[in-house]
Formats: sequence, structure tokens, C-alpha cells
Amino acid sequence: MEIDIAMEKTLSEQVNNNQKKTETLTFPTGFLWGAATSAHQVEGNTNNNWTEWEKNNAERLAKEAGGKWQTWQQEKFPEMFDVKNYISGQACDHYNRYKEDFDLAKSGGHNAHRFSIEWSRIELEEGKFDEREIEHYRKVLMALKARGMEPFVTLWHWTEPIWFQEKGGWTDKKSIEYFSRFVEKVVGEYQDLVRFWVVVNEPNVGMGFGYLLGSQPPAKKGPVNFLRGFFNLFAAFKKSALIIKKIDPKAEIGVANSITHYDVKIFPGLYYITVSVVDFFSNYFLRRAIPYCTFIGCNYYSRHVISSRKKDIAPEKRNDLGWEIYPEGIYHVLKSLKKYNLPFYITENGLADAMDEKRPQFIEHHLRFVQQAIQEGVDVRGYFHWSLLDNFEFVDMRGFWPRFGLIEIDYKTLKRKPRKSFYEYANICKNNEVDLT
Ligand code: BGC
Repeated sequence: MEIDIAMEKTLSEQVNNNQKKTETLTFPTGFLWGAATSAHQVEGNTNNNWTEWEKNNAERLAKEAGGKWQTWQQEKFPEMFDVKNYISGQACDHYNRYKEDFDLAKSGGHNAHRFSIEWSRIELEEGKFDEREIEHYRKVLMALKARGMEPFVTLWHWTEPIWFQEKGGWTDKKSIEYFSRFVEKVVGEYQDLVRFWVVVNEPNVGMGFGYLLGSQPPAKKGPVNFLRGFFNLFAAFKKSALIIKKIDPKAEIGVANSITHYDVKIFPGLYYITVSVVDFFSNYFLRRAIPYCTFIGCNYYSRHVISSRKKDIAPEKRNDLGWEIYPEGIYHVLKSLKKYNLPFYITENGLADAMDEKRPQFIEHHLRFVQQAIQEGVDVRGYFHWSLLDNFEFVDMRGFWPRFGLIEIDYKTLKRKPRKSFYEYANICKNNEVDLT
């Protein structure tokens, strides 16, 4: 009898496990699967306002590491105290190794790829477009096309030519003219190869850190600079979107927004006002950009809890940067943006996880909630994991130590090594479905 019970238990466990294993969520036909990068973070040897800033700030950043910012797991990442960590230098040398990287992405089942064109390469000197660099990005685009991968091209991922910064950056009204001139050139050149343009990446984060807080280039701290910069960037976006539409009426135009889930846990009387205020400011750029967009890009990483009580987050629920892992949030943000009635692409979603312990489950769980949003009528058409490669993490200037890649980079040899999660994500991309475990 005892044996029977034990056998039955084992069987029921097996059935449960099988059931768990066979729970499969399928994505819509034609769903785009890929990963994202940005030029300065992976290409190497860029010459822009960030390169300059790194030279002047690396020493300070290494001294401040572990104190002001990184109390979380600092013993695990001694690189954060090294000046070299804060100099982008050769990065992943993706500028020269893009074919090898795209081969890997293709072998991982990716049918799309998001990357940015580095403005300072195309227009190192004001008004002079560099034909060799234009040719370079043409080759990059052709390499993607040859591998059957749809390019999503970002035009502003926070870096700018040095001359642009010397002329006042985004605080100067002429910035609108400068940026849209670059956009006109680039879109005119590549319209035959590119359908999806991500005009700007995370305007709120880029402007917030670069202008309001001043913790990253151009470090023009203060609310006045921020407001000037923010509205000029918006005007530049609008002008650029109209230019793109004129050059190629069939082009898809969007913005990649950093969309955090704000979990408001306060006294009910203050709930609606808090939610409205947070929504007003965090989605301000997006709201105004909607009339010029044909799709919405969502960059989702974590949630912020707004509460009078501080709650500790368990270590297993944090990534290496200490950010909370909260998959359900992606569902809430998608649902809250459904009202805009445009197609969505998850243009970034990922985590710093050097040991790759949490990434496989992170992807699976986030996709499960993306799928739930799709089932409830949100038109999500693609997912780009951040990132294809480990890279120079530049939000708030963290440098090389946070490891965001599906593919690990050995920065000494520049060898690429796909992580376990790369293969797990490959199964998802190839089958267009997620198996829930
Ligand atoms: C940015 C990326 C960055 C990532 C991880 C996003 O805010 O677009 O450039 O590396 O977050 O922090």
C-alpha cells in the first residue's frame, strides 16, 4: 500500500510536471524576435560627446563606485573600481565584427535586430557627411537583410557629435535643425533598406540624466536646461518624423520609450491624483509624439513602488544592478498604453545578470505577460531583448561591469560566447512560442 501511494505520488508529480512543461504560449504569425544594441555601447572607437566626457570623468566614477551608487554586490564586481571600466574604448569592436555578431543572432533564430546609427560617425564635422561611414552602415544593413533580419534603426541613442555639444547641445534651438538635417540625410540614403525608424530612444531618461540630474553627458544640470533640452528634442523629433514620412510615406515611425510600471500603494484618497501626476510626466513625450508615430516602442525593465512604507526586495528578485525583477509590470504598461491604438514593439527588455542565473526565467516570465496582453487585445508585434552582447552600460555611467548580453564578451580577447539564455531564447524565437516551466 505504501508503495502504491509512493508510486501514485510520483506519477502525479510527473503529470504535473508534464502539464507544466506542455503549457505553451504561441505568438502571432509574423511576430518579430530579436535583440537590441546601440552604437556607442558596442561599436568601439567612437568619437563623440560621451568619449570626451568619459576621459574627464572616469577617475571620479571609479572613486565613487561602491559608495554613492553601487553598494549592491560590489565584491562580485571589483571592475567597478577600475578607471578602465568607465572608458568605452574598443567596447565589443562590433564596428568590425558585426557580421560575426549577426551570424550568431541568426543562429539564435532572430528575424529582426535593433541598432543605432552613430551620428558622430556620419557627421564628424558639422555639415560634412562622411561617405565612407555612410557606406559602412549600408553594409551593416545589407548584412542584416542577407540574413533575413528586419532592421529597426535608432537615430538618437543619446550620443552626439562633439561640435553639436559645443554649440550648446539640445538647449540651443538650432539643435532642431542640426538633428533633422542628419535624419534627412540618413533616411534619404537608406530608405530602400529600412522600414522601421526609431527616431529617438528614451527621451525622458536621456534628458533626465543628461540635463536634469547631470550625471551623464552633457551634464548640463538644472531644470531650465532640462526643459529647454526636452522641448527642443521634441521639436526635433516632430520635424524628423515629418521628413521621414515625406521621403518614404510607407516608413514606420516610432519612439522607444522607457516605460516603467509605477505601483502606487498609498492612501486611497491620494491614489488617483498620484497616478495621474506620474502618468502625466512619465508619458509626456510619448503622448505628444503619438500623432507622428505609426508604432510605439516600449523599453521595459522594472517597476517603481510609490509607497510611504519602504519594502525590501529579496536578492533573488533583483538584477546585478539591484533593480527589481517584476515581469507583471510589462503587462500593466502595455494595457495602459492600449488606448493609443497603435502597434507595439518591445524595443528593450533585459537585465544585468553576469552569471546568467536569472535571465532564462526573466525572458520566459516577461513573455508570458506580453502574451497575456496580446490575448487581451494589445497589438504587440515584436520583442527585442536588451541586449545581444554585453556592452558599455551607460545609463547613469555604469560602464562595462553590468552584463546585459545574451552573448558574453571577453573584453580582453573580444571572444563571443553565447550564454545558456541565448539558446533558450533561440528556442522561443525559432518556434514562435514560449514553453512555461
Ligand atoms: C537604454 C540602454 C541601456 C539599458 C540598460 C536603456 O535605458 O536605452 O542604452 O543600456 O537601458 O540600462
